[in-house]
Amino acid sequence: LRHFLTLEGLDAALLHEIIDRASGFLGVSDQAVKKVPLCRGKVIANLFFETSTRTRTTFELAAKRLSADVLNLNISTSATAKGETLLDTLRNLEAMHVDMFVVRHATSGAAHFIADHAAPHVSVVNAGDGRHAHPTQAMLDMLTIHRHKADFSQLRVAIIGDILHSRVARSQIIALHTLGVPEVRVIGPRTLIPAQAEEALGVRVCHDLREGLRDVDVVIMLRLQRERMSSALLPSEHEYFRLYGLTEERLAVAHPEAIVMHPGPINRGVEMDSQVADGERSVILEQVSNGIAVRMAVMSMCLGNQNLQHSQSAGATDG
Ligand code: CP
Repeated sequence: LRHFLTLEGLDAALLHEIIDRASGFLGVSDQAVKKVPLCRGKVIANLFFETSTRTRTTFELAAKRLSADVLNLNISTSATAKGETLLDTLRNLEAMHVDMFVVRHATSGAAHFIADHAAPHVSVVNAGDGRHAHPTQAMLDMLTIHRHKADFSQLRVAIIGDILHSRVARSQIIALHTLGVPEVRVIGPRTLIPAQAEEALGVRVCHDLREGLRDVDVVIMLRLQRERMSSALLPSEHEYFRLYGLTEERLAVAHPEAIVMHPGPINRGVEMDSQVADGERSVILEQVSNGIAVRMAVMSMCLGNQNLQHSQSAGATDG
């Protein structure tokens, strides 16, 4: 694993390796993850061209817990604001011996573009690109599910809301299928579900919330992603909550031990009410905590591989 850009094409063994490694960082007591020396001497640069609270800060914490040095580039005050190209910015950071770029960008494919142009010793991790992918979010969600529901092969999972614009949903669906979840449902208005989702994504589509929630083990709520919507698609918040907002009463048709997830940020009173968001079935803040361990796992796997490649090439030269 050199880059971590998408979950497409990754096999179940690798996803389990990430979950197992992250679980090891969490330990048994759910205490804060301890600092380990796995990435001492490595330099990790966070390049966030789009807003973020959870992802940026948990990547930073994860890098620090791995003992790496962290650069947080403030894009709005960096030289990109003076017209420097992205590639020139990358070359300058590489000249500072950066080993990894963590990239969030509003354009789908941006992390792949950076990976294609990065120096051979540099790894790239996708922290969310446009509508395309958010692979570490999906993996922290898989870790959270795993900690509550041991057997992926027995689960019914429902993803509710704006599937059309969601990089999180796209990555989650790939991860759930790869890990053997037999039934993934997507629930939302026709305008917010991709065309031919059943065939294209391998999911069951429901437009009725109550019908879609029946007997599910995991409920994943999504935000309306207004920043990626044309105004014609934008539903009224009141109408959306009336049809798709998650309440305790609506949740009652799910499995009695169903967990409720949300990648954040939550819009309370739009996709779910506060009673559910803060209720006993909610694991939303656990998802955030698990993000540190999963990002430690992914970064240490990519950077560990760099060490291996480096020692192999050094060995070959010496020999
Ligand atoms: N879940 C997620 O990506 O949140 P942020 O936008 O705050 O990083």
